[in-house]
Amino acid sequence: MHIGLLGFGVVGRGVYEQIKKRSDLHVSRVLVRRDIPEIAAIATQDFQDIITDSSIHTVVEVLGGLHPAYEYIRAALSAGKHVVTANKAVVSAYYRELTELAQENGVALRCTAAVGGGIPWLTNLERCCRLDTVHEVGGIMNGTSNYMMDAMHKAPVNFDEILRKAQELGYAEADPSADIDGDDIRRKLVISANIAFSTLLREEDVPMFGIRTVTEGDIAAFQARGLICKLIALARRTPEGVSAWLEPTLVSANSLEAAVPANYNLISFQSQYLGRQSYYGQGAGRFPTASNVTQDCLDIMDGKTSFYAPTGKVLPLHNDTVRHPYYVRTVCADSWLSDHTREQMAPGVLTDAVSVEEMHAWAKAQLQRDSSCFIAALN
Ligand code: HSE
Repeated sequence: MHIGLLGFGVVGRGVYEQIKKRSDLHVSRVLVRRDIPEIAAIATQDFQDIITDSSIHTVVEVLGGLHPAYEYIRAALSAGKHVVTANKAVVSAYYRELTELAQENGVALRCTAAVGGGIPWLTNLERCCRLDTVHEVGGIMNGTSNYMMDAMHKAPVNFDEILRKAQELGYAEADPSADIDGDDIRRKLVISANIAFSTLLREEDVPMFGIRTVTEGDIAAFQARGLICKLIALARRTPEGVSAWLEPTLVSANSLEAAVPANYNLISFQSQYLGRQSYYGQGAGRFPTASNVTQDCLDIMDGKTSFYAPTGKVLPLHNDTVRHPYYVRTVCADSWLSDHTREQMAPGVLTDAVSVEEMHAWAKAQLQRDSSCFIAALN
């Protein structure tokens, strides 16, 4: 298989090195933004060199970001080339259009590395959906934020310093706010829910609260009660449609989630026949992520061209029926918070059970009044 590789960053270089050792896969051209001496013979800065090369049957996109990655993927599919991508931003935003375009052109669009880094999560989720009904998907879906939360539970650390370390290790996105505030997780949740429930969620409809404002004081209060805080995303099939959200969540210190260290992810589905099935592994990093990209190429070579069947249905998204208590810390409590406060949990309070919809709407508005406000769901 002759491959045109778009991007030579953390993941691109990993893919290149894995493929270099094989005789059945061959990287013919690499699209780069600057000169890289070690690949000078095959490097180009012009995408046309790849799209017009009829010997290239598969384009591997690991540039990241929406543009020009989206345009390149479209062009490659339209030109009848298979596409493998690790780009969750593009797949989440253009899910329907790209899956339909792949089908129209009789080519594969595979994106296993887009969710869970090196974990074969999407492959197995899709496989489960062939036979079974999936009711819920989600879990710990971001390596960077888990790495940071794990470090903060082990010892007092400086938030910026630990973020820098996650960047150095190649876990964080180019703009790490996507890891900290939840956009990266939201994209992964949308892609997973679309596959699990045959639907088309819109990122902007899924409420999220990240870990930007968590403090050592919050974590000490959680640990004093035998709780660990993890950034968890969930999407659930309901009689009315789909519920989906992501938020810091307090889990028992004995739970599977609590034991997830460093850049690891733990992603699960609940299905009718299988009950809960969980996938654990490195959710970020060069070689784990590159492995799923390379595996997608091998699957295509094995003739697996179908994936992620698009659907015409759009299930309504609603979060008003999911209710749980929340830990809330803010320096300016208002009457809504006082009305819902069940007990003190210094430096915050614990609320009675409130809906995800109501809590997230309140928290979003509260961040305008108190930018240091933090919430965490108590499950
Ligand atoms: N920045 C992402 C993470 C990379 O930390 O999980 C893998 O998607």
